[in-house]
Amino acid sequence: MRHLLDTTDLSLKEIDDMIATAMDIIENKEKYAHICDGKKLATLFFEPSTRTRLSFEAAMMELGGNVIGFSEAGSSSASKGESVEDTAMMVSCYADIIAMRHPLEGAPRVASFRSTVPIINAGDGGHSHPTQTLTDLLTIYREKGSFDNLTIGLCGDLKFGRTVHSLIKAMCRYNNVKFVLISPKELAVPDYIKSDVLDKNGNAYKEVESMEEVMSELDILYMTRIQRERFFSEDEYLKHKDAFVLNLDKLKDAKKDLTIMHPLPRVNEIATEVDDDPRAKYFVQALNGKYIRMALIKTLLEWGGAL
Ligand code: CP
Repeated sequence: MRHLLDTTDLSLKEIDDMIATAMDIIENKEKYAHICDGKKLATLFFEPSTRTRLSFEAAMMELGGNVIGFSEAGSSSASKGESVEDTAMMVSCYADIIAMRHPLEGAPRVASFRSTVPIINAGDGGHSHPTQTLTDLLTIYREKGSFDNLTIGLCGDLKFGRTVHSLIKAMCRYNNVKFVLISPKELAVPDYIKSDVLDKNGNAYKEVESMEEVMSELDILYMTRIQRERFFSEDEYLKHKDAFVLNLDKLKDAKKDLTIMHPLPRVNEIATEVDDDPRAKYFVQALNGKYIRMALIKTLLEWGGAL
């Protein structure tokens, strides 16, 4: 049995295979409509979500399976003090696979120590969001046809943004990928990502504080939200909340085949006028999230011998 706690739990070959499965699901949906008949997914969300939880649930239903779970800690026995380990052990009596989101970094890993079914990290604090990264990889693959030789601009809250940390870790494993890190100094990528991931893999990167100065270099612009819930004070949040707002004017020097991505939800960081630009792919990205989660559920259940 395997869990998915971080993107690097998967080899490049396993990621390639999962993307190939997702592509086949997109082309041949009916082939997969009953492969999870009789199976149950539990979604244990201790933190709010729209895309991740609902795309997991839609994914399991489109595979023929059923869904149980909760969408806030307050409606579970966590509110009475039950531990993550005990919750995971209990739920693995009721479901064949578990997707867990938790505000505490490492909580899904702790759950995996006691669970008897695969645990999927659906986002843990500021640490990691591996299924968002698989979503992002499927989107990049569908738009660019390859992961090599790309310049990726990451913009916004690069300090607390778990999707950014996971995507850097994943893309560093491909050839000749350059990163442009666009953030205020206070929200820069953590030092451990620079030393343990970017420097260790020998990836070129630069840090800048404005998107306009680098726009023409980018193949992918990955916008992120300034996350109110990760700041220790409201004043700090207000200082940074509108640090970057992408609009059509800022795209005037961008490549014609730029891919604009965002894990969503957005607040102000992409003006709605950008939505109709053919380079805007963030809603397609959200749809890709359902397909890659279908591929992931199928793969983990197969690895665990449940399919
Ligand atoms: N991208 C993402 O994780 O969105 P939700 O918080 O809505 O799940």
